[in-house]
Amino acid sequence: MISRETIDEVKNRIDIIDVISDFVTLKKSGQNYKALSPFVNEKTPSFFVVPAKGIFKDFSSGKGGDAFTFVMEHEKLSYAETIRYLAKKYGVEIKEDRLTDEGQAIQSEREGLYILMNFAKDYYKNILANHEDGKSIGLSYFRERSFTDKTIEKFELGFALDGWENFSKEAIAKGYNKELLEKTGLVVKREDGSSYDRFRGRVIFPVHNISGKVLAFGARMLGKDKNQPKYINSPETDIYHKSDVLYGLYQGKNAIRQLDVCYLVEGYTDVISMHQSDVENVVASSGTALTENQIKLIHRFTENVTVLFDGDSAGIKAALRGIDMILKGGLNVRVVLFPDGEDPDSYSRKVGTTAFKTFLKEHSQDFVSFKAGLFAQEAAGDPIKKAESIKEIVTSIALIPDAVKRSVYIQETSDQLKIAEAVLLTELNKILLQERRKNEKEKLREQPDQPNQGNESLTIVDPIEDLNQSEVDMPTMVYYQERETIRLLLNYSEQKFDDQKLADYLLHELDDVEFKNEVFKGIFETFKSGLTKGEPIDNQYFLQNGTEAVKRMVTELITSRYDASHHWNEKNIFFPKEQDNLNQLATTNVLRLKFRVVQKMMEDNLQSVKELETKGEWEDLDKALEKQTGLKRAETELAELLGIVVAK
Ligand code: UTP
Ligand code: MN
Repeated sequence: MISRETIDEVKNRIDIIDVISDFVTLKKSGQNYKALSPFVNEKTPSFFVVPAKGIFKDFSSGKGGDAFTFVMEHEKLSYAETIRYLAKKYGVEIKEDRLTDEGQAIQSEREGLYILMNFAKDYYKNILANHEDGKSIGLSYFRERSFTDKTIEKFELGFALDGWENFSKEAIAKGYNKELLEKTGLVVKREDGSSYDRFRGRVIFPVHNISGKVLAFGARMLGKDKNQPKYINSPETDIYHKSDVLYGLYQGKNAIRQLDVCYLVEGYTDVISMHQSDVENVVASSGTALTENQIKLIHRFTENVTVLFDGDSAGIKAALRGIDMILKGGLNVRVVLFPDGEDPDSYSRKVGTTAFKTFLKEHSQDFVSFKAGLFAQEAAGDPIKKAESIKEIVTSIALIPDAVKRSVYIQETSDQLKIAEAVLLTELNKILLQERRKNEKEKLREQPDQPNQGNESLTIVDPIEDLNQSEVDMPTMVYYQERETIRLLLNYSEQKFDDQKLADYLLHELDDVEFKNEVFKGIFETFKSGLTKGEPIDNQYFLQNGTEAVKRMVTELITSRYDASHHWNEKNIFFPKEQDNLNQLATTNVLRLKFRVVQKMMEDNLQSVKELETKGEWEDLDKALEKQTGLKRAETELAELLGIVVAK
């Protein structure tokens, strides 16, 4: 409830150059300023600030706006948090509109919890640094695990003395009341009304929220003792909801955004050791599967998650379902499997920084293909198991919200497992259909006020139920291949391909292919007529002369950094350079498009075969059957070239 006055005052005082310079090194360029994008990793500056208008524009990420937007985007702050930040920077006093009494009470209660947690953090830190026992017990434990001073400071590690009331006494002496101590979970109440410190004789790991406030603590015992839990954690409180927090996000968020990938590990010490190995884009799930809110939290910083697995294979299968949740959240998932008996903490210390980083890069693989590989091994030579594993893998693919990504995965899985795409697609559509019916039923149940509620004879009409199932995703496959062709044309038409230009190659090879999608068809035809007239077309042409739909598509295709083709085809997701294997990309693309088109033609032709048969038009039927045989032959040939096995 910040007052209007305060907001206006802040707006009057801010200078966009001054605000952005706190985060980005700007270089003057004429009237304006430029810099490397703070949102994506790049080598040539595409981030511009126009002080005259008070705005910035980042051409790499597409973000733009005023100084407020910049701070919100860059720091991932809410509007209110942004105002507070800027008010502080410019020394504007924050006036709050009066909250209701109740609102005020809640506000100050939460505020009280934060203040006490902060006090506790400082207390535990101080014990670690200055108390005799803190130094001889806590600090030497951290030293044993080779945590440096820098690390201890960065994660604000601390130590809780052994004894029932060390902390309580100190806090009460400083004026914190008993009730508040209990509300934070720092002390525990006994039945007789007395109370004791929750954390005793343990090293302390504070858990921060995204802006660095301490919400909770994890306290690890020293050494091994079978009769005690390894960690004692803060309970849920008014400020701490375990399922909405990720350990390490505060310390790692900038790296996650910059490198555009987030590593996911299990424990506190994995996060910390990875930081010491110069890998800061890492968070921990605290030993449990990720929750939906935690996935959303990661999604604010990146679309890419790489899950790091301990090297004990027993745990892997159990963890797969948890990873499915991440796919469902729309993120791209990769996995790294550590050698037997190693976790990120032990392995990074064992091999050292450089080797560790190389290991992560070289051993990261796409989750779906990892899973496919895992099941394929098991199912080898066992048809029943094989059917089960197909279902298992396709279940994961079905969770991916994006249809284009789904079709790419189907393609890849088909290649990898040598199973016809049609088989996988049928299975996929079956699952999608089931899922959809389930959702619709749930929706009806959730809306009991709907007029048709209780009308049992009313069935839910599923718009895709009537379709031939294999048709459901087939148009998507053709669409994807067409899109990919157009993308290559728009981005690389002038690049050399053998002794000609890429555009010439594509136009020539696909001369007899008719595009199904009108927008793609228009773009392709324009390229073709340009070539015949000897006036090469480039993407600018479409941006100036195209219809709105064409412009939109062209813009998307020439700007999308995350085009599926990089992600799935390249081993290293960090800096894919598709120019480097453009020839191969173009050749496979041509083959795939033809393959899709032939398959679609076969489907259509089969339809006429059936009709002709019913009508008894034998002569035409003969021709159609001949055509089918020809198409089948073409399909097989193309499939062989692509290394896919086609169903007989
Ligand atoms: P780990 O046992 O892997 O802990 O559990 P760790 O952090 O790697 O610690 P070291 O390396 O063995 O010293 C993973 C996470 O599960 C939660 C903690 O969040 C821990 O970081 N956990 C584990 C608990 O909450 N309580 C426990 O008793 C054990
Ligand atoms: Mn561990």
